[in-house]
Amino acid sequence: MKNKVLFVVTVIVVFLLGLLASSIVNRKSEAKYKYVPQVEISEGEPRNDVWGENFPAEYQSYLQTADSDFETYQGGSKMRDVLEEDPRLVVLYAGYGFSKDYNQGRGHYYAIDDIRNTLRTGGPSGPGDGPMPSTCWTCKGPDVPRLMNEKGVEEFYAGKWADKGAEVVNPIGCADCHDSKTMKLTITRPALVEAFDAMGKDINNATHQEMRSLVCAQCHVEYYFNKKLPGKEGTPYLVFPWKEGMSVEDMERYYDNIEFADWTHKLSRAPMLKAQHPGYETYLTGVHADRGVSCADCHMPYKSEGGQKFTDHHIQSPLNNMANACQVCHRTEDSKLMANVYDRQKKANENKIKLEDLLVKSHIEAKKAWDLGATEEQMQPILIDIRHAQWRWDFAAAAHGASFHSPVEIGRVIGGGLDIAAEARIKLARVLAELGHNEEVAMPDIATKEKAQEYIGLDMEKLRAEKEAFKNNLLPQWLEEAEERESKMDAQEVTMNE
Ligand code: HEC
Ligand code: HEC
Ligand code: HEC
Ligand code: HEC
Repeated sequence: MKNKVLFVVTVIVVFLLGLLASSIVNRKSEAKYKYVPQVEISEGEPRNDVWGENFPAEYQSYLQTADSDFETYQGGSKMRDVLEEDPRLVVLYAGYGFSKDYNQGRGHYYAIDDIRNTLRTGGPSGPGDGPMPSTCWTCKGPDVPRLMNEKGVEEFYAGKWADKGAEVVNPIGCADCHDSKTMKLTITRPALVEAFDAMGKDINNATHQEMRSLVCAQCHVEYYFNKKLPGKEGTPYLVFPWKEGMSVEDMERYYDNIEFADWTHKLSRAPMLKAQHPGYETYLTGVHADRGVSCADCHMPYKSEGGQKFTDHHIQSPLNNMANACQVCHRTEDSKLMANVYDRQKKANENKIKLEDLLVKSHIEAKKAWDLGATEEQMQPILIDIRHAQWRWDFAAAAHGASFHSPVEIGRVIGGGLDIAAEARIKLARVLAELGHNEEVAMPDIATKEKAQEYIGLDMEKLRAEKEAFKNNLLPQWLEEAEERESKMDAQEVTMNE
């Protein structure tokens, strides 16, 4: 009898243990199942409106980056045609995309629209077609970290711009700067982490205040596409050239050492460098950075609405918001602060324009020398001067906001450019004289963008027609594909929430 009871009890215990074990296993796989898609969805979520459900104040202010009617002396959110404002740039960029089309940056909301619309990305008809590599998407939005996680970083950079048109559709937003689980600021672009590595620094050691600038330094920096990285040959890998330092001379030395050129100038045949937008590097040399003021302090100040204090995500020209952006530190009235900013910008521009004039003349005089039969040997030192002088001009011009962020450094950089350009023209005068041309070289009429583009031989009608065809044929396909992919993400999200 005792044995029977013991037997039955044992059977029951074993049965219960079995149940428990199986339930643990189930729970575990359930937990795993629940865990995996949650990370996928939250970490990879590129859609700003989905984040916006949790953080309406930040999202609503972010949406204001769509405003585009604020204009200042040289900035603001208005669409500005830089080539129309200053046709000299068409000549300076001859042979390069920026001579076709160059609009000043607008709000983050437009990052995707603007890269689709610019003539620089051409009119691809499908995957594998068009002038630009996939790498050009890197600073356009939160689909980029998503894709890098899904495919791998190198695979993301590989291929053409048109290959990823259906993938990168959400403009710069939450997942570019925030960790979805902790909402802490985070670096999502490997190029910045790798640049810190190259300088022997660890970006994980950055302070909270530094992070309030470093999130911007993921994109507002100088960069190039390196197609010769060991082990990654052929892929236009995104690199910030900071290994030797961040000054205009340091980066120039870096590029000279690896004999890198972004393009060969169409008129002078100089091996040119395109300064992208070294905003972070130049900001670091200014007095605000020296006093520990971050990009976010001026471009994302705190704001109060309905008793709630939050970070204003309407990233824009701070001149549209001086009460919050400046007057928390400066007890100076609006008009005075505005005058301080304009004064610095106008003074920098004065010499910047002089440098442009010298550069335009250098390119055209170099062309004349080639036409008259100059040799490579005669031209070599001149072309290097042109490269170095224009690098300085572009460094100052393309570092948006730099003539305010760091007026003294920008003055120094432009001054260096003026000196090198003058040197180039002295050498050119000598070569031209040796070739029997002992008089001024005639300058073309480049009074308007159209005239300048005609002079450098651009077929604008063809470029515009290609873009139209792209917008009518390929773009709708991208949008359809993207919508289908994202509707599946919704389905996944619903299952997860059950
Ligand atoms: C002390 C305040 C301050 C700090 C710090 C600051 N900026 Fe600015 N920024 C300005 C002002 C003022 C302008 C000029 C706006 C204008 O001309 O309308 C400007 C202009 C810009 C522009 C051009 C905008 C436009 O509308 O033309 C960009 C881009 C920019 N800043 C990015 C940054 C980045 C990135 C950082 C950090 C690396 C930074 N700024 C740090 C105040 C600041
Ligand atoms: C993922 C890349 C990326 C990040 C991160 C980023 N930007 Fe931008 N930013 C851009 C691009 C691209 C544009 C130009 C968008 C256009 O013209 O369509 C831009 C434009 C701007 C403008 C011009 C807008 C205007 O209305 O004049 C300002 C100012 C600016 N960014 C400041 C910042 C600041 C400050 C940060 C950090 C808090 C930051 N950005 C972070 C890529 C980025
Ligand atoms: C260009 C970088 C950038 C982007 C894009 C961005 N943020 Fe932020 N966000 C910041 C910075 C900088 C802070 C200030 C953080 C700090 O000082 O700790 C911040 C703070 C926050 C905070 C903390 C509370 C507060 O208001 O200070 C929340 C929540 C937030 N952001 C939500 C969002 C959401 C939602 C989006 C997308 C709609 C977004 N952010 C896009 C840079 C960004
Ligand atoms: C977080 C504090 C802080 C904010 C925000 C700030 N500043 Fe400053 N600013 C400083 C400090 C500190 C200095 C250094 C001079 C000093 O110690 O008084 C300075 C210096 C300046 C100077 C003189 C330096 C030069 O370039 O020659 C100007 C002009 C200036 N600020 C304008 C502005 C404007 C315009 C804004 C808003 C877009 C702004 N500041 C936002 C703290 C700030």
